Parts: sequence; structure tokens; C-alpha cells
Amino acid sequence: MRELRGQVAVITGGGSGIGAALSHACAERGMRVAVADVEESAAESVAEALRIRGAEAMACQVDVRSRDAVEELAGAVDSKFGQTHLLCNNAGVMVTRPLLELEEKDWEWSLSVNLLGVIHAVSAFLPGMIARGEAGHVVNTASIVGLAAISQGGLGAYTTTKFALVGFSEYLREELKAAGAPIGVSVVCPGAVTTRIAESERNRPDELQTGPAPAHSESDPRVATIPGRQSPEEVAASILTGVEEDDTWILTHPEMKPLVEARTRALLAAFDVAAARRPA
Ligand SMILES: NC(=O)c1ccc[n+]([C@@H]2O[C@H](COP(=O)([O-])OP(=O)(O)OC[C@H]3O[C@@H](n4cnc5c(N)ncnc54)[C@H](O)[C@@H]3O)[C@@H](O)[C@H]2O)c1
Repeated sequence: MRELRGQVAVITGGGSGIGAALSHACAERGMRVAVADVEESAAESVAEALRIRGAEAMACQVDVRSRDAVEELAGAVDSKFGQTHLLCNNAGVMVTRPLLELEEKDWEWSLSVNLLGVIHAVSAFLPGMIARGEAGHVVNTASIVGLAAISQGGLGAYTTTKFALVGFSEYLREELKAAGAPIGVSVVCPGAVTTRIAESERNRPDELQTGPAPAHSESDPRVATIPGRQSPEEVAASILTGVEEDDTWILTHPEMKPLVEARTRALLAAFDVAAARRPA
């Protein structure tokens, strides 16, 4: 089991929801925590709460869409805490519009935060983590819709980014293993969690606006009817256990298994179809 005490954690999107709960859970494990978020005041208030409970914490304003900003974050964490051991790529946004109504700017925002943001952080932090030779871990937060598409709620762009993130994470894990680097990679695929994800539009930059934001709230029936909503604290606890056990997939909502089972069955059946259609 991986020992986290005394190590350094960086959490993007640490100012709210799962990231804030993860920041607290890391502090509880005795880690030093860098809380990074595009919302400076949110990052600062989580870091302050950690310091009040006796943890070492720093707040960093960062927009993960910017490679330069993420490089600066890596430098700031290195100067203050030294080597990063646990990189949690948690920042994410959810655009909710039917696929055929999505505009170029919707795609740009979704892809630049949910996918490029993770790529930026991996590029900024991994070389240093590998060079220092100490054990480390990367956690990428995807979603259950990264394992099975649910065609409701206008989640087409979100689903696209999360499927890509699952593939990116699996590939990164294998590549690091093949290189003999002592860095694990996990991808987290939660179902519904009680956070502010439905209010993602609050962080959409002016230049990527596409008109009035659709109204989404806790009472949104598409969200409310998904069974097994968990608290961010429950999900954060599962994530850290998964890191300690070096799990490839950290699945938090067992009630979602039938969705993935159905997709996997259909996928395997398609191989049988291919075999049957192959000319003798
Ligand atoms: N809430 C759910 O039901 C659910 C389910 C599956 C996966 N997820 C994923 O969990 C992760 C955390 O989301 P959450 O549910 O806690 O939502 P949240 O909105 O409460 O938190 C997301 C955080 O990311 C930050 N953020 C947004 N854009 C950013 C950017 N460009 N740069 C840096 N930070 C940025 C926000 O300021 C916020 O603090 C996301 O990747 C989300 O896709 C959430």
C-alpha cells in the first residue's frame, strides 16, 4: 500500500466539490496540499480551512486551459513544497447541450479544460516526478460517462472528453509501467455527486460564451433521477483508497455497473459479428 503521509498533493479544481473534499482528505492523511483552481477565492478558502486544521496548504490560481499557467503552478509548488507525489487532475466543466446544437466554442471550452487541462498538468509535473525517482501517482477524474455513453442531459461534449480521458489515463499508466517509472495512474469514474458541476457555466471565459447559459439546478430531473448520488467526501475517500491500492480504475458508484456491462456485452458481440462476417 502506498504511504501518503508527509507527501505533496496538487489538486486542480480544488476549490469546490470533489476537489475540495479531496484536499481535506489529503490533509487528513498528513499530506501537504496545493489547492489549485481558476477561482482564486475558492482555492484560498479551502487552503485556509486546511491551515486552520493544522495542515500545510497553499492556494494557487490557475486556469488549466493554459499550458504556461500550469507550468507556473508546477514551479510554485516545487518552490514551496518540493517534489509533487500526487497529482490530482480534477478540474472539469460540464456543458449541457444536445450534440447537434453545440457550437465551436462549447467544444473548445470542454476540450480545453477536461482534456487539454489534464495533458498540460501531466506535461508540467511528470518529468520532474520521474526525474526524482520517488514513487508518485496521477489521478485523473473522468466520469461514468467516460465508460458508457448516456444519451440524455445534453452530455455529448462532456462524454467525448471523459471517454478521451479514460483512454489517455490507461495509455499513460501502461507507458510509465513499460518505462519502469514508479508512478501509478488511476482514472476515477464517478456517477452523480452532489457538487456544483451543474453550475459549471460560472467558470466559462467571456471569449468562449455561446449565449445564455441553460438553467441547471439540483432539481434538474435528469440529474435527480440518477440513482446513488454520493457526497464529495465519500468520493474523495474512495479516490485516496484507490491511490493507496494503485487501482487502474477507481469506480465509486456500484449501481452503475449494468450500464458498463451492457456496453461491454454489445462491444464483445460486435467481435462475434465481425468473425461471422469474415470471408472463409
Ligand atoms: N459532480 C458529479 O456528478 C461528477 C460526476 C462524475 C465526474 N465528475 C467530475 O469531477 C470533477 C470535479 O467536479 P465537481 O463535480 O467537484 O464540480 P465543481 O464544479 O464543484 O468543481 C469543479 C472545480 O473545477 C474548477 N475549474 C473549472 N474550470 C477550471 C479551469 N479552467 N482551471 C482550473 N479549475 C477549473 C472550478 O472552479 C471548481 O472549483 C470534474 O472533472 C467533473 O467532471 C463530477
